[in-house]
Amino acid sequence: MKGLILSGGHGTRLRPLTYSQQKQLIPVGNKPVLFYAIEDIIEAGIRDIGIIVGPNKEQVIEMVRSKKWDANIEFIHQPEPKGLAHAIIVAENYLKNEPFVMYLGDNILKEGIVEHVKSFLNSDAEASILLTEVSNPEEFGIAQLNEKNEIVRLIEKPKKPPSNFAVIGIYMFRPAIFKAVKEIKPSWRNQLEIVDAIQWLIDNGYKVKSAFVRGWWKDTGKPEDIIHANRLVLDEIKKTENNGILKETKINGRVIIEKNTIIENSLIKGPAIIGKNCKIANSYIGPYTSIGNNCEIIDAEIEDSVVMEGTEIKGIKRIVESLIGKGAKIVRNESLPKGHKLVIGDNSQVRI
Ligand code: G1P
Repeated sequence: MKGLILSGGHGTRLRPLTYSQQKQLIPVGNKPVLFYAIEDIIEAGIRDIGIIVGPNKEQVIEMVRSKKWDANIEFIHQPEPKGLAHAIIVAENYLKNEPFVMYLGDNILKEGIVEHVKSFLNSDAEASILLTEVSNPEEFGIAQLNEKNEIVRLIEKPKKPPSNFAVIGIYMFRPAIFKAVKEIKPSWRNQLEIVDAIQWLIDNGYKVKSAFVRGWWKDTGKPEDIIHANRLVLDEIKKTENNGILKETKINGRVIIEKNTIIENSLIKGPAIIGKNCKIANSYIGPYTSIGNNCEIIDAEIEDSVVMEGTEIKGIKRIVESLIGKGAKIVRNESLPKGHKLVIGDNSQVRI
């Protein structure tokens, strides 16, 4: 079996972060979202992984190659993001008629995929999808099931959802899908939709199975999703691990502090993670906060937020539920005229 991870697309709902950064590289719990998918696939025993890349492909390749993986990873270029089913057409040569698991690189699934892969390979199904209940079914691919829990219909982002069972972004296929993706037509949003390809399999008599996932699942498509995913991931921290230097600092709850980080006269409440080479002084870091490497946080209070590497926060009380990109500077305005002095990127959101 092979793995196919999708790490292309423009990530428009995550602007301005995605002007400079591919969305699957945004960190959750100080780890690029994409790495969770790679780890899950390797954990399921798959050793050949193709990663579909598009805009910012060099960034994705560099980030993936910065780590040693127990797998052969190849990169496949999708010239234009024309839909998830189109990505399968682009990857057909790589997948070479083998069964494969397709994993959207912006999805995180708590329980991993070991059991799902096993159960698919032991079945005679041509495809298998995973489902979970959501409160906003208009935003996902949705499955309508019958009394025997068989799939009757799949619809992409329905205006009037027939159920609230979302199709999560992890799919398992045998080779009939290569025919399906070529038979379907682009949707109203001009995409070759994966749910349409799976519907084609059902309509043409192929067996498609489904299973509900047990733990949490998150699609990190929007800023609030990243903050939510960050909470879920940090909640999995089992115990405090301090590799930094603490002076007059109190730690409450489970906190990971990485090497060469110095924290003085501060209060850190977990679950939280603080990366390498950070300097934190006279500050409060509250629950559900991830601070990337090389950050400086002085005389500040922050909680429930994701702060990416190289950011400086000084004299600010108090930052909550925020997503702060790399190398940002948030400092108190001490000079005249008083007021908020902003230099922010296109499509940024600031609530003061
Ligand atoms: C895609 C799929 C959708 C699925 C979702 C899961 O949506 O088209 O069927 O429910 O991923 O993450 P998109 O992220 O393209 O809006």
